[in-house]
Amino acid sequence: MTDDPPLVSCINVSKVYSLASNGRLSRRSDAPTVTALDSVSVEVQPGETIALSGPSGSGKSTLLHLIAGLETPTSGTVSFDGTDLASLSGRRRTRHRLNNVGIVFQHFHLLDALSARGNVALPLVERGIRKRERRERATEVLEAVGLGDRLTHTPDQLSGGEQQRVAIARALVTNPRLVIADEPTGELDTETGAQVLERFQAAAEETAIVLASHDPNTLAVADRVVSLRDGQRVAESGPDRDRHTIDPAGAHSGTPGEIDG
Ligand SMILES: Nc1ncnc2c1ncn2[C@@H]1O[C@H](COP(=O)(O)OP(=O)(O)OP(=O)(O)O)[C@@H](O)[C@H]1O
Ligand SMILES: [Mg+2]
Repeated sequence: MTDDPPLVSCINVSKVYSLASNGRLSRRSDAPTVTALDSVSVEVQPGETIALSGPSGSGKSTLLHLIAGLETPTSGTVSFDGTDLASLSGRRRTRHRLNNVGIVFQHFHLLDALSARGNVALPLVERGIRKRERRERATEVLEAVGLGDRLTHTPDQLSGGEQQRVAIARALVTNPRLVIADEPTGELDTETGAQVLERFQAAAEETAIVLASHDPNTLAVADRVVSLRDGQRVAESGPDRDRHTIDPAGAHSGTPGEIDG
């Protein structure tokens, strides 16, 4: 696997936000800015599971959004299958996401008007799959995350952990080549979290997964843990496939993210 070309390649990726209300980088040199990511490089191989760990505000969600193609970096490149995502038009980037990426957002982003099954089936509508097959596939994935008895509930009729599992089912239902999951077990008890991780691991044989987490059980299923601090990559466990320089200060040696590869 190590010699395969990477599915995702981030090279010296930085993201700088201005504090302007439109969220864009101001041209004014004195405009206050936040460097959410500072020259981070990481590669994801097909089928690999990578976990991002690091304190709140360290840039995990930002990096996930860039890898997913939801945002573009201020500098550096994010490539999928050798294509620089910033070179695609907005429409082609959206198409790429629909075809290749399943995303579990930190705050779920479910549609309130749709049932659990309707939410999970939505990416299949966008792929032109017929209704009967959509229902079957959505039902199967919801059953796999323990929600077979909640198919017709709308999000407001579900607990936080149940909503999270619907979001996970929606990301997995298309069998995407890449799953991006932001704190996917954050709302779940240990037992339900383990059930969800099992479903991730079943998917992981074919799917690359990049997740952000603080949960030791979630970090433990990863092939590698990449630690961020203040927008910089500071440490790594597992095989060093990116030939990345590890912070000699070892600032993170005590974090739960550091597991043996
Ligand atoms: N749209 C934005 N505009 C300005 N600053 C932002 C924006 N999005 C993120 N930031 C800042 O960038 C930094 C990284 O944020 P990010 O959401 O990536 O952190 P995180 O590691 O996911 O944190 P958490 O564990 O709390 O989810 C933070 O300091 C945050 O305030
Ligand atoms: Mg986050």
